[in-house]
Amino acid sequence: MRPIRLLPVILLGGGFFAIGMQAAAETPGDAERGRAVFTSKECSRCHVPRGQQGIGPALEELRRRQGTLELTGRLWNHAPAMFVLLKQEGLEWPGITAPEMADLMAYLQAAPLWDPIPNVFAGHVILVRKGCLKCHRFRGEGGSVGTELTKFQGGYKSPIIWAATIWDHSPRMATHAQRMGILYPRFTGEEMVDLFGFLRNAAAPPQ
Ligand code: HEC
Ligand code: HEC
Repeated sequence: MRPIRLLPVILLGGGFFAIGMQAAAETPGDAERGRAVFTSKECSRCHVPRGQQGIGPALEELRRRQGTLELTGRLWNHAPAMFVLLKQEGLEWPGITAPEMADLMAYLQAAPLWDPIPNVFAGHVILVRKGCLKCHRFRGEGGSVGTELTKFQGGYKSPIIWAATIWDHSPRMATHAQRMGILYPRFTGEEMVDLFGFLRNAAAPPQ
């Protein structure tokens, strides 16, 4: 089984490490490095090729042509189950940086190309319906457990930075949701696309 055929990226010297997070996230991910991320973050402990005994869905179900934001939604959904399993095994939540996320996305065959055009109107409805405002503020209104969503530090420029932020924060969000008796929200295919599109528009400086 070969990863998707991306042109091999040649990294020269330490140049890669000199690039800031934003710029690095915009560099196309590399599927071979993504495979290494998949192993080093322990994903491969639970996700193994079909036919082998694994705790999670088979690797083939994770690796398929999909949108970047679609996969972000799948990762979001996945957090509570993984959180519990890792805790049982005494393992730490594996942090994923934006460049690592770009590589992981490439390995799992996710690309922005496969995400549909966002429906920002639907995105507004999703923001409310998923209960984000029970904890977060949006234009000053909402809860105070989380941050003001129009001021997201990652800046909504890159879905990869969004995905990495969501990944790093999801265990803490899940803990808060449990404590507050809020159902951890789940996303289907296009909902994360619409929500991200709506938030990006809302956070954009006025023209
Ligand atoms: C401790 C075991 C475990 C580890 C480690 C693990 N997973 Fe999972 N994963 C699961 C289980 C169980 C499911 C099915 C339940 C669910 O979706 O929450 C799952 C489901 C998924 C899904 C599908 C979600 C959906 O419904 O579409 C994705 C994508 C995924 N994992 C990615 C990853 C990635 C990436 C990593 C490494 C950063 C990882 N997993 C590490 C156990 C694990
Ligand atoms: C139960 C409470 C809760 C819910 C519901 C919740 N969040 Fe959060 N969220 C938090 C908390 C708490 C943090 C801060 C986590 C930390 O840094 O420790 C956070 C952080 C974030 C961040 C990072 C903020 C930044 O500036 O870095 C984003 C983005 C985010 N949440 C998006 C969402 C979205 C989108 C939804 C709805 C789909 C949502 N959250 C639902 C509690 C929640």
